[in-house]
Amino acid sequence: MREVVVAANWKMHTTPADAGDLARTTAARTREPGVTRVICPPYPCLAAVGAALATADPDVAVGAQNVHDELAGAYTGEISAPMLAGLATWVIVGHSERRRDAGETDELIGRKLGRAVEAGLRPILCVGEQLDEREAGLATDVVERQLHGALAGRDPAETNAAGLVIAYEPVWAIGTGRNATGADAAAMSDAIRSSLDALGWGDFAAGMPVLYGGSVTSTNIDTFLAEPSIDGALVGGASLKPDEMAGIVARAGMTARARGLAG
Ligand code: 13P
Repeated sequence: MREVVVAANWKMHTTPADAGDLARTTAARTREPGVTRVICPPYPCLAAVGAALATADPDVAVGAQNVHDELAGAYTGEISAPMLAGLATWVIVGHSERRRDAGETDELIGRKLGRAVEAGLRPILCVGEQLDEREAGLATDVVERQLHGALAGRDPAETNAAGLVIAYEPVWAIGTGRNATGADAAAMSDAIRSSLDALGWGDFAAGMPVLYGGSVTSTNIDTFLAEPSIDGALVGGASLKPDEMAGIVARAGMTARARGLAG
């Protein structure tokens, strides 16, 4: 049975002064057996969140929102995978905001993924189409191209052993309040597994968690988790609100129980 994962992407919110409190409150409100929880704060807040969770709830993992594709060097302002040791155990790669703002390509994202795996970080690989691409009927082609660009040449067994999670985040649904339908998200999740198969990752496709992200709230989470092919959520704006996270993870707990993961 596939793992159920709820990951919080805090994006460029919180400071080292307030991040620990938010992490503690979120952890306390989201204790659901069988649900893997991850909080991804900004880099300067990783230590504060890690320290808060170490005492409040060590079951909640800490993730970074990005990582560089080189190990060290003259890259002002960048953070490499080895630098995250002791600070994070997960990392988001290929978020659409980085594709948009930092011009990240699928090939670069693939190298970042490789660095994450080498460093023992669990990667969350984000894929998703733009609105015009969906309207042109190209959503699946775009996501397949992104997966192929990032994963071709990677070792499937090694990447799978690192715990790769795929997050389908249609760009037009991010921060817009306009979410995909559960049926669309499920269809894309199936397409993701088919394209993993086509890439030669078939042995791992069925077991790899696929999350939905894009305006997820406690109100609409049921739409996604009612779909057997969706394994959780990557939550942006709502992840800054403990009430919202409580509702989202509670619904994920129902899925975990139905899958026999709750122990
Ligand atoms: P929102 O939940 O704010 O739409 O953001 C989604 C997202 O980008 C998570 O990575």
